[in-house]
Amino acid sequence: MAKITFITKDGEKVTVEGDSGNVMQLAVNNGVEGIDGDCGGVCSCATCHVFVAENDMDKVGEAGEIEADMLELEDNVSDFSRLCCQIEVSEAIDGIELTVAKED
Ligand code: FES
Repeated sequence: MAKITFITKDGEKVTVEGDSGNVMQLAVNNGVEGIDGDCGGVCSCATCHVFVAENDMDKVGEAGEIEADMLELEDNVSDFSRLCCQIEVSEAIDGIELTVAKED
C-alpha cells in the first residue's frame, strides 16, 4: 500500500492510497483535479504531468526516454517533472508528494 499526496493548483493537498496500477489511474479514480489522463496512460498526452517533491526524487526516479521526449513538448518542465502514468504504484513510493503541473 502506498500513500501519495497531490498538491493541486489551488494548493489543496489530496492524499490517496493504492497498491497497484499507475499513479495517474489512482489520481483519476480519486478525482484529483488537474490530472486528466487523456491518453489512458500510454505516455502520449502529458495531461498527467506532475512535479515530484525534491526529496522524493530518489524514490520515484527519473523519466524514461519516451517519457522525457513527451515532456520536452511541455512548456513548464522542470528537473522534477514526471508523467505520473509512468510511475507504478508500489510501497517503494509510499509517502511521496506530487504537485499537479497543469496550466490554466
Ligand atoms: S496519461 Fe497521457 S501521458 Fe500520462
